[in-house]
Amino acid sequence: MSSQDKIKAFLKERDAISISSIEKESGLPATLLSKFLKGNRPLNTSHLKKIIPILEKYGYEGVQDGCKIIAVVNHKGGVSKTTSTQNIGACLANFGYSVLLVDLDSQANLTENCGIEAEGNLFDKSGSTPVNIRENLDIIPCDLFLHDKENELRQDLDQWYKVKKRLDPLRVNYDFILIDTAPNLLYFTTNAMVAADEILIPTQAQKNSAGGIGRIMEYLDQINEQLTQNKRIMGIAITQYSALQKAQEIVEENIQDSLGDLVFDQVIPLNSAVQQANLLNQDIFEYQPKSKAAQAYQKLTKEILRRY
Ligand SMILES: Nc1ncnc2c1ncn2[C@@H]1O[C@H](COP(=O)(O)OP(=O)(O)OP(=O)(O)O)[C@@H](O)[C@H]1O
Ligand SMILES: [Mg+2]
Repeated sequence: MSSQDKIKAFLKERDAISISSIEKESGLPATLLSKFLKGNRPLNTSHLKKIIPILEKYGYEGVQDGCKIIAVVNHKGGVSKTTSTQNIGACLANFGYSVLLVDLDSQANLTENCGIEAEGNLFDKSGSTPVNIRENLDIIPCDLFLHDKENELRQDLDQWYKVKKRLDPLRVNYDFILIDTAPNLLYFTTNAMVAADEILIPTQAQKNSAGGIGRIMEYLDQINEQLTQNKRIMGIAITQYSALQKAQEIVEENIQDSLGDLVFDQVIPLNSAVQQANLLNQDIFEYQPKSKAAQAYQKLTKEILRRY
């Protein structure tokens, strides 16, 4: 159960506790908690930091388990890894969560699409210092030099834990950390999978898609076995979907049949607004919040929130 759910359950169980006095004691805005209890808005990390010590006085025993690290992975290129990282991250930030995006692909597409200069990377001296994009949304950018770091990092015994070691100290500041990875299952992608709590796989509905996802699942099993990890796939998101193409419909059904509940109900349509937003270095909610893609990414994000 997340901190959010624990706090909700705690407050609902103890209806003798006055919500407005908790708001006052915690220094939270008036009505925030009633909106939270009605499910109309989440509590972000700074709210949690303020409210948990106050609730503890009333007997609350939950620890703040706030942050979730999600690696967005698929070794197939062009399946919307970067677009999904950017738009799901933006949507979570719009919902009020505190979000960090991490660009771990030396193509630096995520960095550029967020309108940030491709300068510095997670392993620079200043690499763990996030750059602010807008309210609730930060990024650790990437430049070409990330690629050169691999040989150096691989020399150490803890080579698979390099990303984890950089990101773990940042957990206290964020509700979500989303890592965009390159189209491969090589060094940095493996590191991202080890650092993550959950893996999100975007895929197009194309011939061989299910086989490719099977390969990622096998690889995750190897990581879990050989590095004594317990990582799981949070879900598979079908992207760039066009119901007009009969072949895509057939593949989508095949993916649903073979991977069942792992596949998110919400698919992301093929929508030119996504490409236009990319060209302008904006997320879809900034560019066209009413577009089909924005609505789909919002529903997908809600489904992600329900899954953890
Ligand atoms: N839903 C969509 N509708 C239309 N175009 C899309 C959609 N999602 C992504 N695209 C476009 O498809 C291209 C590939 O998307 P993206 O860069 O997100 O994929 P990727 O998996 O990160 O690629 P790579 O493997 O190279 O890192 C981009 O030009 C993007 O604008
Ligand atoms: Mg990409």
